[in-house]
Amino acid sequence: MTNLDPRLQGVLHLIRADRHADIGSDHARLPLALVQSGRCKWVVAVELNPGPLEVARQNVQRAGSSQHIDVRQGDGFGPLAAGEVQSASITGMGSNTILSILQRAAWLPPALVLQPNAQAQALRHWAYQHGYHLRDERLLPGFWNYTALRLERASHPIPFGDPSPASHSGPVADPAYQGLPLAAALRWGPHLLRARHPLLRQELLRQQRRLQGLLVHQRPEVLNEWAQVNAALRWLDEPSVFSV
Ligand SMILES: C[S@@+](CC[C@H](N)C(=O)[O-])C[C@H]1O[C@@H](n2cnc3c(N)ncnc32)[C@H](O)[C@@H]1O
Repeated sequence: MTNLDPRLQGVLHLIRADRHADIGSDHARLPLALVQSGRCKWVVAVELNPGPLEVARQNVQRAGSSQHIDVRQGDGFGPLAAGEVQSASITGMGSNTILSILQRAAWLPPALVLQPNAQAQALRHWAYQHGYHLRDERLLPGFWNYTALRLERASHPIPFGDPSPASHSGPVADPAYQGLPLAAALRWGPHLLRARHPLLRQELLRQQRRLQGLLVHQRPEVLNEWAQVNAALRWLDEPSVFSV
């Protein structure tokens, strides 16, 4: 059985599909664990660069998993035919790299599991505006706290490209955000807030201390971040203030 670190172990538990693709697979440890654990029957491991591609091929062959894992070279979703998999993961990269892979895709599967190294809010915003609902999310311990998101395509998505998530309410909006201060939930994670995740409170208090020292400059991005940290902490302490 392939051993995964706590980060990829957390990602593994957000994936279950007959046919899955892992984009930017590197060593192919996640695809190996997915088929060995029975969470997936068949996985395409996509890798852009020749070095990791070769390592992935060797690891899959050595594990005797060649019938269940197809290692392909290419960029993002490029090596996949439309509809070939039901879900895909993109993990261990910057959120801008992940966004660029999503934006360049000619098609996307109905479920996505994304684990950026930082700035998970950029992916929550993308999902909110592109008709993917946030079904689950985890805060995973590691070099720092990593966020992993499970997104599923909504049946009645918000119109493509609408730049203003705050303007939406009602049946098309992602129910994960209902009853929460939207900007703070997009920043810090609606499921993590509802779960009162202990790592989240620690992180919020750490950010509150950091931002306090920067308030004197009155920079708009600092003031905005300060507002989101305080709204999230207030919701944790007094959720009734925000109930509708
Ligand atoms: C930092 S590693 C992360 C590996 C693994 N997903 C994990 O979470 O441990 C990122 C990998 O993605 C590959 N990669 C980067 N951009 C890619 C793209 N556009 N398409 C496919 N692979 C890509 C890199 O070559 C590298 O092996």
